[in-house]
Amino acid sequence: MDGNGRWATRRYLPRVAGHKKGMDALRACVRRCGERGVRVLTVFAFSSENWNRPPEEVSSLMELLAMALGREVPQLKGEGVQLHFIGDRRALSDKVRAGLAQAEADTASNERLVFNVCFNYGGRWDIAQAAARLAAEGRPITEHSLDRALGLAHVPDPDLLIRTGGEQRLSNFLLWQAAYSELYFTDKLWPEFDAAALDEAIADYAARERRFGRTPEQVTPRAGRRAA
Ligand code: FPP
Repeated sequence: MDGNGRWATRRYLPRVAGHKKGMDALRACVRRCGERGVRVLTVFAFSSENWNRPPEEVSSLMELLAMALGREVPQLKGEGVQLHFIGDRRALSDKVRAGLAQAEADTASNERLVFNVCFNYGGRWDIAQAAARLAAEGRPITEHSLDRALGLAHVPDPDLLIRTGGEQRLSNFLLWQAAYSELYFTDKLWPEFDAAALDEAIADYAARERRFGRTPEQVTPRAGRRAA
């Protein structure tokens, strides 16, 4: 969800105003995913590297998370959303940690949309923690066991990965899981990414051919044949 800071700066507002607006965009996106029949949505809300931002911005993002737990969770619960928080929780306050666990427990039986919020998350951190856990348990490290020990083991790999804000890189997001994801980059800043923008991204995805290493003919048997 890139571009909150620029959205605010362009309006002579403090960066935190962009994050607040970003929260509105996120709420709309969750709702649209539910309407469109998307079963899993995973967002990058705070990266392991975001600790390097000015302390006041870091605290405002922490406050936003705490506020979201109070304000948004009851609504999400009513909308059939199952919440998961993915990332290293050790750096978070006891109160926030308890809030995350409570939100997950309160929404665990929901089935309409699985909503993963990656917070204090990094793709490399996830792979390292999974490998360390397997090693500590004396289990062999294989593609399958590592996959099952990652923070997102409860959902399939993402079909579509959207990055807003004009940059074309993964920035340590879902490094393992995005191996075969379709990538979609848009110049729109995250606070401007509305339901119509999501529809556009889904339409772009729907027009792509996914081959997973196979040939076009294997994927679509008639592809490549000349008309008789
Ligand atoms: C990246 O934009 C955005 C973030 C680091 C924060 C994303 C947070 C939200 C959308 C609010 C939702 C939050 C929670 C806690 C669920 P940027 O600040 O890097 O933008 P820039 O590239 O324009 O500076």
